[in-house]
Amino acid sequence: MDQATATSIVEANSLDTLLAQAGSRWDVRTGGVSMPIHMAATFRHPALGESTGWDYSRSGNPTRDVLEALLARLEGGSRALAFSTGMAALDCLLRTLPPGRTIVVPEEIYGGTWRILENLSVPAGVNLRWVPFSDLASRPAQILSGADMLLFETPTNPTLLDADAAPILRAARAAGTLSVVDSTFLTPVLLRPLELGADVVVHSGTKYLSGHNDTTAGVLVVRDAALAERLAALQNTTGAALSPFDSWLFLRGLKTLHLRVARQQESARELAAALAAFPGVERVMYPGRGGMVAFEADSPERVESMLRRVKIWIFAESLGGTESLVTVPSVQTHAAVAPQVRERLGINDRLVRLSVGLEDVSELAQDMKQALENA
Ligand SMILES: Cc1ncc(COP(=O)(O)O)c(C=O)c1O
Repeated sequence: MDQATATSIVEANSLDTLLAQAGSRWDVRTGGVSMPIHMAATFRHPALGESTGWDYSRSGNPTRDVLEALLARLEGGSRALAFSTGMAALDCLLRTLPPGRTIVVPEEIYGGTWRILENLSVPAGVNLRWVPFSDLASRPAQILSGADMLLFETPTNPTLLDADAAPILRAARAAGTLSVVDSTFLTPVLLRPLELGADVVVHSGTKYLSGHNDTTAGVLVVRDAALAERLAALQNTTGAALSPFDSWLFLRGLKTLHLRVARQQESARELAAALAAFPGVERVMYPGRGGMVAFEADSPERVESMLRRVKIWIFAESLGGTESLVTVPSVQTHAAVAPQVRERLGINDRLVRLSVGLEDVSELAQDMKQALENA
């Protein structure tokens, strides 16, 4: 990190202050409080063997560098890397596993992660061991025996099973397992996995972190400097780095992360409590934290008709933005998961996932109620 990047982060420790001033201190020449978008693909060298610190934007770009420096501070890692999507971040990480190693992953995981593990990024000769999330949560030491890498989410997508990450991460450390937490759902506002002993944190930055449903992004935050360097070299080689404009959108979104997450959590709690009494709702899933809620309806027909009747909720697949989204995981986010696995995990055609946004919560509740009622 060059001097200009190092001093671009406000001298503060609290998350709120770091977030509010995301990218606000980089431009020492003009004092501009918004991070400039450096659209340069390449950078002029003063002379042979000399560099300003930036050479070519695939390897590093000032706007992305400031975003990465801030993400490393927010999670407490030695370095962060920003990618074009969450899947690109995961792909880069999975490529580091040498043949003969074992990766343990709970079946309860984002459908795209299931797909990349089953179909693509796990190098030949790597053993992929699927486990029930409840087993990982209840007896992590046993589950992690012989594992070289653990990748998990909590709460899980989309059925929102939740676990205390601390004992799982302690067991991973004791077993010598590299632990990776996909912390997309909680963000550093609600969970800081590296402080609990994790080695790597993954985010789909598309979601809460950037927060406005206007860009895709992915993040790796790494504890160990040597692993971070390997990942940076891989990212530079494969090229899925976040663009300068998207890095700016991401920084801009981060400024209000703490306020958004607090409000989304408050509204999700209220909505989860109300949902149980709505027509056709058989079971509500809400782990008590975060802005995601799920429910099981009494029939697929009710789900289908609700989707046509909602007026405020938006039927779309993503989460964590200002707009409240309603998703049917079995046909959207988890379509890639094998049907028999989906069925076993309860990801059926009656399951509905809600990402609670920033609208008035009583209007959100009223809208969902009328949509379910008229079904
Ligand atoms: C928990 C989780 N991890 C990773 C991803 C993948 O991120 P992206 O869509 O930015 O590639 C998603 C996307 O929905 C997700 O929900």
